[in-house]
Amino acid sequence: MIKNNQPTKKQLLKTGEKLLFIVAGAFIILAGIAFGIMQYVMATHDKPIFEQYTHFDLSEAGQRGSEIYRHQACSECHRAMSEGTNMGNSLDGIGSKHSVAWLENFLLEPEKNYDHATMDHGKSPKQAYYVALLPKKDIHDLAVFLSELRSEQGSSSSPVPPKGESPFIDSMVETWAPDAWKEKYTDIRDKKPNNEGVK
Ligand code: HEC
Repeated sequence: MIKNNQPTKKQLLKTGEKLLFIVAGAFIILAGIAFGIMQYVMATHDKPIFEQYTHFDLSEAGQRGSEIYRHQACSECHRAMSEGTNMGNSLDGIGSKHSVAWLENFLLEPEKNYDHATMDHGKSPKQAYYVALLPKKDIHDLAVFLSELRSEQGSSSSPVPPKGESPFIDSMVETWAPDAWKEKYTDIRDKKPNNEGVK
């Protein structure tokens, strides 16, 4: 062991370091206070602070479907009604994209009714193979439930961007989309969403 007879000098913080700690500390404290205020306002306000763009008015079959959804562990991979995980795609607003028939066909025969190769839905050993093997009635109720997860135009889960002019999108399209695309593809904003989805 090395012994040092000289009294060790306490290492003091430099002014710059002190300032850095004070500023960082102030940020953390302010963030804590702001979070507290937000929680208080959210708890006491009678109107929701954020506008709700997703709706779930469930019919009787939809209600049954939502119970099957919960019992069949769909939320292990999906997010719906703000719950679940993000392993698979979010199902909020899916009723504004696809009809009951599309959803039912997808659940029954995923590989035949999907635009791409499927990852989890399909035949065993794909992880969600069991979905297609559920009783037909359950699949129908699930499809009805999913079709009732709707979202208004402009919400992040809606297939259609917000109403009105979108100068930002226009300028992006102008800058980035090759001219040939304009003839090849239709602008999604010119399509009307309906019960059959936008497709
Ligand atoms: C193991 C993970 C997993 C489970 C469990 C699962 N899914 Fe999926 N789901 C996916 C993935 C991944 C996709 C994308 C298609 C694919 O690659 O299989 C998908 C796609 C879908 C789609 C089409 C979405 C779209 O916008 O194209 C629907 C509808 C759906 N799942 C419903 C369900 C329902 C209902 C259940 C429960 C009965 C369920 N899923 C269980 C992973 C899962």
